Amino acid sequence: MIKNNFWTEFRHGLFALAPMEDVTDTVFRELVMSVSLPGKLHLLFTEFTSVDGLCHPVGREAVIHRLFVNESEQEFLNKYNVKLVAQLWGNDPEKFYKASQYIAKDFHFDGIDINMGCPVDKVVKQNSCSALISQPDLALEIIDATIKGSGMPVSVKTRTGIKDHQTAKWIDELLQSDLSAITLHARTQKMQSLFPAEWEQVKIAVAVKEEIRPEVRILGNGDVSSWQNGKELMLQTGADGVMVGRGIFANPWFFAENDVEREVHAKVGLLENHIRLFSNTWKSMRNFSILKRFFKIYVNGFSGASAFRASLMETHNAPEALQVIRDFRENHLLQTDK
Ligand SMILES: Cc1cc2nc3c(=O)[nH]c(=O)nc-3n(C[C@H](O)[C@H](O)[C@H](O)COP(=O)(O)O)c2cc1C
Repeated sequence: MIKNNFWTEFRHGLFALAPMEDVTDTVFRELVMSVSLPGKLHLLFTEFTSVDGLCHPVGREAVIHRLFVNESEQEFLNKYNVKLVAQLWGNDPEKFYKASQYIAKDFHFDGIDINMGCPVDKVVKQNSCSALISQPDLALEIIDATIKGSGMPVSVKTRTGIKDHQTAKWIDELLQSDLSAITLHARTQKMQSLFPAEWEQVKIAVAVKEEIRPEVRILGNGDVSSWQNGKELMLQTGADGVMVGRGIFANPWFFAENDVEREVHAKVGLLENHIRLFSNTWKSMRNFSILKRFFKIYVNGFSGASAFRASLMETHNAPEALQVIRDFRENHLLQTDK
């Protein structure tokens, strides 16, 4: 019933970029691929997208941009054979069925991922995301509905428990479904991201799935600090792969050939590409202020960075930000190059 299960192509060594709201849109995904070495990054996810929104004619308009894929991103995906998975959230199996049917028909994703990990009050109060950890029957219904609706490989991204780790029990419950992969964020709901990830929980998850359904892929997630660190964590835990979240903020070249600190020209060039692609893609659909969280990731670690960043933070739109970059190049970079 599941067609083209790309997960079966991967066995050990899989690197994924985590789904992150207001971060991993089509623009940022393309940008990360543009500076990655082919073969070092295998899998990308969209931001989480509400099935309630997708199933409502007006609500759909408000969320659909989360599933948008630029042609230029698609070219990178094809060229580097990177897979792209749409992430959904909600708590009504019927809506998962309809939303995933729509995704399979109208989009070109390689799979669907179900968010069973987000600990934010807003979604937990709606009995969704990490709240599903304490509702295993509903979780299984949702997975089943998503597979039936889409005919695509379905994965789950989750945590180790609500208040305490319940990894073995929860992974066992999830494996009663036909899911193809599980990403385990090695923290409980209660831990949010305030405490270090506990990777021994990933090892527990791997042991459980080896026992019950060895063909399912397990990815570990939480505090992966470098590509090398990701490799080591795979070896330590037996996980098939790792998922990288905030590590990409510390280093947008996370998946590049080597781990050296990039020089100022490269950082400013990538920032400029980001602003241009963001503004060409989203026009007025997404607020320019979303971009501000990215300024820090490119503008750091060189002389004049903090004043440059402060000027960028005062801008209100792409032309203003691009002008600040031109000024910095003229007044600072060209001077220091002389
Ligand atoms: C800004 C931000 C947005 C996030 N949005 C999502 C999301 O849409 N879906 C999801 O499953 N997790 C989301 N997460 C959680 C990450 O995918 C990841 O599980 C978490 O950051 C832990 O990984 P890390 O320690 O490598 O950052 C988000 C995290 C951050 C920092």
